Amino acid sequence: MINDVERILLTEEQIHQKVSEIGKRISEDYRGKNPIFVGVLKGCFIFMADLMRTVEIPCAMDFMAVSSYSGTTSTGAVKINKDLSEDIVGRHVILVEDILDSGVTLNYLKQYLEVRKPASIHIATLLDKPARRKANIYPEYSCFEIPDAFVVGYGLDYNERYRNLPYIGVLKPSVYS
Ligand code: IMP
Ligand code: MG
Repeated sequence: MINDVERILLTEEQIHQKVSEIGKRISEDYRGKNPIFVGVLKGCFIFMADLMRTVEIPCAMDFMAVSSYSGTTSTGAVKINKDLSEDIVGRHVILVEDILDSGVTLNYLKQYLEVRKPASIHIATLLDKPARRKANIYPEYSCFEIPDAFVVGYGLDYNERYRNLPYIGVLKPSVYS
């Protein structure tokens, strides 16, 4: 464990077991539907890579990039930095996020994509912090509910650091205060 991490919340083993469980559920739920996974960069990249390798049905993928955060607090504003390269009309979309916190980002993205008339849009998130929810949005697939602490690792960052940690850890408050 690195020094900036107070404690490990989820180990590599716990993460991999749960991610493959969710991948199997998605495979059953979307059989014959050729879903398109839409990852929300950058936080999703490790989760999405692991999740997709546990999905056993034909599927496609694409990415979007948004910015809404600097440091540990939400600015409330969502900016689209990269839009889809695939057409999603009539497609079953699975939005893949690292963490559902206030829900402002995903709520905005979902409405933004609804306009393109996909067959469905569901959410798959690695982490869910329900205590901090502001928007009325619920994930169809969530690997872990976590308490209200700032976490890093397995794709999640603090000012672009720590994404490469293989586990999810609680960041020491002294790092960001
Ligand atoms: P929301 O719009 O508040 O749901 O923001 C979600 C985004 O905030 C995530 O995609 C993360 O980039 C970031 N975020 C929220 N909580 C954390 C955290 O504990 N660690 C790292 N990033 C976080
Ligand atoms: Mg993110």
